[in-house]
Formats: sequence, structure tokens, C-alpha cells
Amino acid sequence: MSEPRPSTHLPASSGREGVETVDEHGARVQAMFSDIAPGYDRANRVMSMGIDVRWRRRAVRSLLPAESRGEDARILDLCAGTLDSSLEIHRAFPEAEVVGGDFSAGMLEVGRQRLDAEARAAITPKEMDAHELPEPASSFDALFCAFGVRNLSDLARATAEQARVLRPGGRLVVLDFFRPTTLATRAFHGLYNSTVLPVVGWAFTGNLEAYRYLPRSMQAFVSAEQYRSLLESKGFVDIEVQGLTFGVAAVVTAVRAPTAGELAAAKGAVA
Ligand SMILES: C[S@@+](CC[C@H](N)C(=O)[O-])C[C@H]1O[C@@H](n2cnc3c(N)ncnc32)[C@H](O)[C@@H]1O
Repeated sequence: MSEPRPSTHLPASSGREGVETVDEHGARVQAMFSDIAPGYDRANRVMSMGIDVRWRRRAVRSLLPAESRGEDARILDLCAGTLDSSLEIHRAFPEAEVVGGDFSAGMLEVGRQRLDAEARAAITPKEMDAHELPEPASSFDALFCAFGVRNLSDLARATAEQARVLRPGGRLVVLDFFRPTTLATRAFHGLYNSTVLPVVGWAFTGNLEAYRYLPRSMQAFVSAEQYRSLLESKGFVDIEVQGLTFGVAAVVTAVRAPTAGELAAAKGAVA
């Protein structure tokens, strides 16, 4: 399967922030998100009329079994931005340890300021590049990513990294705008992305180019079914795709299968 690169029609960046592994495309995405960080949350709420909150809440619930409070669980919220999803994960699973990983120091700083003392004890914001996660293998029980994977330079490499840091049996939950495949969703995306998105995005952040990039990144992204194939190729099983709000967005859940080496080691331990 070939993965299209997200569009790079972005302003040139003045240079990479902290994280050293970031490539040219990543540096532009990073600079863009740091620039829009102060107005990002308000723009989101207005643009989606609050629906993004419901989407996140629903997606987050799939991370762990319904009865869990997250006891002993480590969860990575990847491309965490202003920590909206990290906070949602903390509300759903208050005993879980949550790492909010993102390569934009600006987005993480806005998020950090939203955390009260209790949330600060559970959520650790951490700068990281999704293509080279600074985390040990099998160190997370679940991994969440909302509206993040679409921005990545190398989706295949980042997906392999997600499989690496998840423990066998760990769950991946991805919420995003995949490339629309039906006529109705294509028409909706086309209209919305050329009207509401740039106008509201510009009004709240002052950055029109960023809100022109976002629709292009959707067009250049994989469809949910292509994404399913990629997950399979990187060792994920039990993959489910659920359309949200008439297929405008989708939540994809998958389980990280044990590798052959892990199975052999487990057999050896039993014998
Ligand atoms: C559209 S925002 C989503 C933020 C948050 N998950 C939410 O739902 O509001 C995308 C985020 O992905 C981050 N991002 C993009 N590429 C990344 C990469 N290679 N590594 C880490 N973070 C990345 C951006 O900095 C930005 O904060």
C-alpha cells in the first residue's frame, strides 16, 4: 500500500524546536501548531460546535475495559497538542498514568497551563517526535491519537513505533478525519473546509495558512480502509473502524499482537 505524504503547502519554518529527529515537513507542521496554539482550543470548539468533545469522549472509552479506572495502566496520548484528550483520558481512567506526547512545545505549554494539581499528578506532558518515540519497547498499555496521524511525514514508520511502545495485547485508538470515500462525505468536507474551517480558524488564531493546510492534509491522507491495511502490516489485529457523525470522522481501534519472538519467549517461560 502506498501512503500519500500530507500536503506541505506550509510556510517555511524558522527552524526546529527542541525535538531533534524532526524532518523538513515536520518542522513546518511543528512551527504551524506552535503558532496557532493559543487560539487552537477555542477555534476547535467553534468549528465543530462542540462535537469534537463528544468524539474524543467516545474514542477514549475504547482504550481500556469499561469497568477499569486505569489502575496500573500507562497510556500514551500521542500528538497530544493542548492535552484535551489527555484530560479526557484522565477523567475516564483517573488512576492511569498518562503521558501527553507532542513535538510542539507551544501546544504542550498551553495544555500544561490547563492542568490543575490533581491532573498534573497524573498527566506528564513530554516533547517527542512520533517517528522516533523516546519510550522503551512494550512500555504502554494503550495508545491514543486524536487528529494527529494525518500530520505525520512517514505514517508507516510512526505506526511501527506505536506497535513497538505498546505491550502485546495493548490497545491503539486513533480518531481522525480519514480521506472521505463516499460522495456525501466528500461533498460535506469540501463545503465545510472551504468555508467554516478557514474563516473560524483565521478568526481565532490569525493564521489563515494553517487552516488551508488542514483540509489539504485530509485530502492527501489515507482512507480508513487503507489505514486498516497499514495497521495489519505493522502487527495489529482485531481492527475496527467506526464512522462518527455520518462518517465525517472515524475512530479506529486495534490490538497490538505479540511478535513471534515474544510468543517464543512466553512458551519458553512456561516450558
Ligand atoms: C490537530 S492537532 C491535535 C491535537 C490533539 N490531539 C487534539 O485532539 O486536539 C495535531 C497535533 O499533532 C502534533 N504533531 C504533528 N506531527 C507530530 C510529530 N511528528 N510528532 C509529535 N507530534 C506531532 C502537532 O504538534 C499538533 O499538536
